[in-house]
Amino acid sequence: MCCSNDGLYYSLCEKTLQNSLQKIIFVYRNDSYKNSYLFKKKDLVIENDNNNPVAIQVGGSDFNDLKKCSKVAYEYNYDEINLNVGCPSKAVQKGSFGACLMQDKVLVRQCIESMQNKNIITSMKCRIGLGKNLNYDYFEEFIDEVLKSGIKIIYVHARNAILSGISPKANRTIPPLNYDFVKKIKLRFPNINFILNGGIDDFEKAKELIKVYDGIMVGRLIQNNPFILKNVDKSIYKEKNFTTINEDTILDYFSYINTRTQQESIYRLLSPLLQIFFGVPGSKIFKKEINETMRIGRLDKIEKIFLKFIKDKNFLLN
Ligand SMILES: Cc1cc2nc3c(=O)[nH]c(=O)nc-3n(C[C@H](O)[C@H](O)[C@H](O)COP(=O)(O)O)c2cc1C
Repeated sequence: MCCSNDGLYYSLCEKTLQNSLQKIIFVYRNDSYKNSYLFKKKDLVIENDNNNPVAIQVGGSDFNDLKKCSKVAYEYNYDEINLNVGCPSKAVQKGSFGACLMQDKVLVRQCIESMQNKNIITSMKCRIGLGKNLNYDYFEEFIDEVLKSGIKIIYVHARNAILSGISPKANRTIPPLNYDFVKKIKLRFPNINFILNGGIDDFEKAKELIKVYDGIMVGRLIQNNPFILKNVDKSIYKEKNFTTINEDTILDYFSYINTRTQQESIYRLLSPLLQIFFGVPGSKIFKKEINETMRIGRLDKIEKIFLKFIKDKNFLLN
């Protein structure tokens, strides 16, 4: 499972790996955070063109609105709707969602109840606690209450959220990781799927952890290099028909970004794809050429450089 709140990354992820990725979570995004509901701004939902299973994440604590979100998520062909109970940012706290909801376990249970219907799976992503001190009992009591809603999948970012004094970025490094809480909660509720998230920063680690936990979720590993996903089908799921990086990867990606040149800068559009050079000897010359061509804004020329790179370095990429 990987988490993306960015259509560009999502596009690359879904093309890099077609077969066995169990789920990509997409985050519905609206910069205002207030009134950031799916049903109000449908045009901001990243389209889901049948590469299921795909989940969408929403944030909120208004039961009626969340109920409508679930309906829209189903209409948009999502398999799962996930409630964000993990984001510590100030803006999100102002909008009454994210990690601050862990202060009110009954409210979270009610939110989830309002999202549930027979058409779509409902899940939650949360932290293991709030503040500087670790407290397993607090975590267990929170989960115990939330499970009364009937949900069966919980993604756990295995560190506390600190709601004031540090940034969201620091909230992904400063509170210590504690995977033992996730192990313990699984023993307490063996019928629930607890998906481990946080600090899984290399593929080998992911391969080991997936043997022990119900599932794992990765964020920054994929953000730093979406092409890592190409190993998943082959190494984890032992698929015979695994995806390779080839000309189609480039052609598909460019056909996606060519429709978005009015909304995004060329640098942002290309940033996920630039990771293709990671660890490939002799790629410096291609990177230089791409940087120069970016300055004149010629996407067609840049596409050709990437295609040449694929042709020259194919044997190193797969
Ligand atoms: C740029 C960025 C944006 C994120 N946005 C969200 C989000 O909207 N919703 C969410 O549940 N997690 C979000 N996360 C957190 C990740 O899902 C994940 O919990 C966190 O990065 C820890 O996992 P990792 O160590 O594998 O990166 C974001 C992470 C990053 C780096």
